[in-house]
Amino acid sequence: MAKKIIFNQPLADLITKRFSCRSFDGRGLEPGVLTALEKFSADLELPFRNRIRFGIIDKKMVRAENLFSGGSYGMIKGVRYYLSALIRKGTPHGWEDIGFGLEALVLQATSLDLGSCWIGGVFDRKNFGRAIGIGPDEILPAVIAIGRPAEKRSWRDRLVRWSARGDLRKEAAAIFFNNNWQTPLAYADMPQWKPVLESVRLGPSASNKQPWRIIHHNGAFHFFLDRDKAYSAMMPFADLQRIDLGIAMCHFQLAAQELGFAGEWRDEEPELTGTPLNFEYIISFVIQ
Ligand SMILES: Cc1cc2nc3c(=O)[nH]c(=O)nc-3n(C[C@H](O)[C@H](O)[C@H](O)COP(=O)(O)O)c2cc1C
Repeated sequence: MAKKIIFNQPLADLITKRFSCRSFDGRGLEPGVLTALEKFSADLELPFRNRIRFGIIDKKMVRAENLFSGGSYGMIKGVRYYLSALIRKGTPHGWEDIGFGLEALVLQATSLDLGSCWIGGVFDRKNFGRAIGIGPDEILPAVIAIGRPAEKRSWRDRLVRWSARGDLRKEAAAIFFNNNWQTPLAYADMPQWKPVLESVRLGPSASNKQPWRIIHHNGAFHFFLDRDKAYSAMMPFADLQRIDLGIAMCHFQLAAQELGFAGEWRDEEPELTGTPLNFEYIISFVIQ
């Protein structure tokens, strides 16, 4: 399996501590914190081994031209820095590696008591990209606002949270299956895997759609994307739902590693009947 990532706190604590922070204290971050995050990203090993250029964007370097320059319709207040990741257009499984890598950084930031918020919907990709030296064949799929949370949440923050129903998650039985798509995976039958699957279930996703579906079959956990086609069509600049799958892979792998389960990612699509037509197979975690 890939290199183990060790945090200063148990993963489950970091996952429950993290939330989408949209109100920051406006004071930016010390150079030492930024350097620590850069070092963490340089050491990351991604499941699909793609080359990703991680970086940190200083908002002062982004030419503010329009309403979107601050990220997410100006819904994020008091932020100075953004984690970013550039990848070459058309890279196979690039979206998932972006999701995996940036989410590992989010968890690291959480361990340093920082607030964070994924921004993949609407932001000024052109000017954010320029600020980080984007190449002609590269794309900037998402950025992550980071900083110290403000003491009080802004009304905009509360409004976005409420409209995305950010605190809610689907039941395990709706997203995890055992052997076939008709049988929900019962934690009572696989108690040792419960913390790993819960790590996935509680993760963030674009518009909180939680599109990950996992089926346990023949000694592996197979990851599928339950694609919302209308949503994907609305977001043509980045495949946010495949980024969500990368986030799920990140939480799954880190939890499995922390609990000492051996396994590896393999492209081994299971032969299953009745897979819903809009489900896309992504990858399998084969238990060893
Ligand atoms: C790939 C991705 C893109 C996102 N894009 C945005 C965004 O553009 N603006 C925003 O306010 N939140 C964005 N979010 C945050 C989600 O709305 C949030 O994770 C979800 O509602 C769950 O809430 P929580 O993060 O507080 O647990 C994004 C999340 C992900 C994973």
